[in-house]
Amino acid sequence: MPDAVILGIESSCDETGAAVVRSGEQILSNVVASQIATHQPYGGVVPELASREHLRAIVPVVRQALAEAGYTYQSVDAIAVTQGPGLAGALLVGISFAKALAFALEKPLIAVNHLEGHVHAVLLEQRQAGEVDLQFPVLALVVSGGHTHLYLAQADKNLWTYENIGRTRDDAAGEAFDKVSKLLGLGYPGGPIIDRLAPHGDPHAVRFQIAQIKHRDRRHSADKTMAAEDDGRPHFDFSYSGIKTAVLRYVETQNLAPSIDERRQALAKIIRAGHQPSIDDYLRLMDQQTRDLVASFQRAMITDLVGKTLGAAREYDIATLFVSGGVAANHELRTTFQREAELEGLPVFFPSRKLSTDNAAMIAAAAFPKLWRGEFVPVDFSAEAGMALG
Ligand code: KG4
Ligand code: ZN
Repeated sequence: MPDAVILGIESSCDETGAAVVRSGEQILSNVVASQIATHQPYGGVVPELASREHLRAIVPVVRQALAEAGYTYQSVDAIAVTQGPGLAGALLVGISFAKALAFALEKPLIAVNHLEGHVHAVLLEQRQAGEVDLQFPVLALVVSGGHTHLYLAQADKNLWTYENIGRTRDDAAGEAFDKVSKLLGLGYPGGPIIDRLAPHGDPHAVRFQIAQIKHRDRRHSADKTMAAEDDGRPHFDFSYSGIKTAVLRYVETQNLAPSIDERRQALAKIIRAGHQPSIDDYLRLMDQQTRDLVASFQRAMITDLVGKTLGAAREYDIATLFVSGGVAANHELRTTFQREAELEGLPVFFPSRKLSTDNAAMIAAAAFPKLWRGEFVPVDFSAEAGMALG
């Protein structure tokens, strides 16, 4: 495929991103404006505020991405933007801006599924590192705040196709991290906080059972964690609302509420004073029992994610494993996947931690094959908040 430079725009949740990427493999710039400070006082993403923050950030973020790459609006070859899934109001900010640019500049406009973007974050960095010999079939776990999906991915020249063989039946894995963090008075964003605190506790202290999705007719299934959908293909589904309830029950039976309230107030005070709490602040406010609870929760989540994913890899005779999305930034998740996949002789690839969480470089990378297939969208296309992949 000839060279092409794409300006990517991402605004599906709480990060405003713009990036300039050459030929789906070379990042010329990748700017992300985080909204953590905006949502932190509320303990989670407030959709109204997210849209407003995107509106404020979109123009400077795009300008900065172009400037850092040494490009102008006129000199990029195409504009790519996230169409969904995500928060409708947030998506519309990026989409409206991308449409206006494409219309005014007379450039092709490419709509990208955010989940496909997460898969291409891995590919982008693999190509950037010169590793082009990818073995198929690929199994991609996309694990983030809104999604826990397993995809079988195939590529035929420029056409990437995906088959969904697993998804969460209720909460996404990142959502469980976020809710448990909030529940324990540790605040938002939960995943990165729990990631940093978990090494300070005993992961075997509290036993959590994560729901296993049963096959409809268990007599015919060797593996009881496997569900079968109407397509007759085995599915590997996840369920994380139960573990959140189990943590809540533990908090109640162990009477942890007073210490949680105290911690919540102390952390809020630090944030109100305009600081980010340090790891020492968190640890000072946590007794050993709470540290152990956090470590045990994280270990249970990771054991389940890794176990089900490797179960799917065996069932579908997978050649390569990708793990991407915000939760893929988790240190223990990465080392566990690496260790367990190696035992099975399965190569596993992650994006760098920066490309694991939401960014626009992955959107520009996923758009590249579409550019060469001429897969453009008219300027009246719209956001698709519940957009599926595959
Ligand atoms: O991919 P992402 O940035 O946005 C979505 O598409 O959802 O993922 C954000 C999610 C949040 O739930 C956040 O808590 C989680 O990823 N996350 C992590 C870590 N960093 C972000 N979870 C566990 N460990 C981390 N280091
Ligand atoms: Zn994402």
